[in-house]
Amino acid sequence: MIRVLFVCLGNICRSPMAEAVFQQRVNEAGLAGQFEIDSAGTGGWHVGDPAHRGTQAVLRRNGITYNGRARQVQPAELHRYDYVIAMDADNVSDLRRMDRSGALDGKLHQLLAFAPDGYPRDVPDPYYNGKFDAVYELVDAGVAGLLDTIRAEHNLP
Ligand code: 4NP
Repeated sequence: MIRVLFVCLGNICRSPMAEAVFQQRVNEAGLAGQFEIDSAGTGGWHVGDPAHRGTQAVLRRNGITYNGRARQVQPAELHRYDYVIAMDADNVSDLRRMDRSGALDGKLHQLLAFAPDGYPRDVPDPYYNGKFDAVYELVDAGVAGLLDTIRAEHNLP
């Protein structure tokens, strides 16, 4: 089993979107049985909330449903994952700060490190500017590259 955790600040906008799009791509590739995919936020303000309506709307427009609820990432769970995928540099530093045991060593990445050249490094937060469609384009490119990388690293079809 390959375990992937997507992380943003609130777990209502970006990381649920990345989780849902990645799950969709994994399903389409016939690889659902090989993956455990989840998302969480470094902050706890929205724990228990459904995804932001902007995330739900852009997912729906792209034929993807998402029913997850927000949760906060726990330091003790980090060792479970093979890939911990942060949306921006703040998420990376927050995760590193909470990781006192080195659980993240070698498996913490920014999503857009897997996007083609020319993409930005950070997925901007649509909570403040409402640009959910632009975020979807970034997330889609990032998860496509991430899946290609994981397939190569694990010799998946
Ligand atoms: P997300 O967006 O990290 O992409 O889920 C945010 C959602 C809520 C807040 C910040 C970012 N907030 O401060 O409540």
